[in-house]
Amino acid sequence: MNLRESMRAMNRLVGRDRNPAPAVAPIDIPEPFGARLVSMFSGEPQVGEDGRAYPLDGVTSATQPTCMWLYQLCLEERPKKTLEVGLAYGFSTVSFLAAIARNNIGHHTAVDPFERSAWHGIGLANVRTLGMEEKFRFVDAKSVPALANFGEAGERFDVIFIDGNHRFDDALVDFTLGSELCPQGGYIALDDMWLPSIRKVVAFIRTNRKDFVSVETPTANIAAFRRVGLDGRSWNHFEDFTTVR
Ligand SMILES: C[S@@+](CC[C@H](N)C(=O)[O-])C[C@H]1O[C@@H](n2cnc3c(N)ncnc32)[C@H](O)[C@@H]1O
Repeated sequence: MNLRESMRAMNRLVGRDRNPAPAVAPIDIPEPFGARLVSMFSGEPQVGEDGRAYPLDGVTSATQPTCMWLYQLCLEERPKKTLEVGLAYGFSTVSFLAAIARNNIGHHTAVDPFERSAWHGIGLANVRTLGMEEKFRFVDAKSVPALANFGEAGERFDVIFIDGNHRFDDALVDFTLGSELCPQGGYIALDDMWLPSIRKVVAFIRTNRKDFVSVETPTANIAAFRRVGLDGRSWNHFEDFTTVR
């Protein structure tokens, strides 16, 4: 089973088939970004890097409220640099890029080792169609080496969106490495709170990472945090986080 098939199977299993509804709620994002998102959320076939149109799988995307939240957050915070783990078709990337265009400031990095093999490079093609290549960097690598390299290079990101491998340990490592890249006042958001693995990671952060405070979001499917301090835990600190909150 390939990555896409297993995601589809997983969503079916938990009753969360998220086929884009044919009637898409209005998307209050300026053109050409709004039209791109409407087309994608409508489930229209999308052009890949090779110029051919491919059907979307109907399950792999940040939801519409999540895209709107990312866009609004970036309008308010005017981040200089943003980062996401998990590009795929580029729903969230288009939302970040829309804010960069509107703010006239910012640069977005997306990390995904399967962008070309699993998603036909549709996310990359979207960036090109929108004429935003200069404000965008794609890293064709797994999140662990990519985020570690950003840290080595001293890079910082004001908004980090974690939407890559959704296993508990992978998402926790993405958060931990992401926290090294997040300055005070910066944000880290995790997608897909419907998954027990992500809820468990979030329970750990809420219980153990007092340098991050929860931020309210308009959708329960994301958990967002703002960095408010340094990580001052002692070497053996541990608060039990067995309760998923
Ligand atoms: C739910 S999709 C991302 C959806 C995307 N954010 C959007 O809104 O269109 C998850 C993505 O994570 C990628 N992925 C899986 N394992 C990864 C890893 N170890 N590092 C980075 N990305 C990974 C997959 O290839 C897939 O594109």
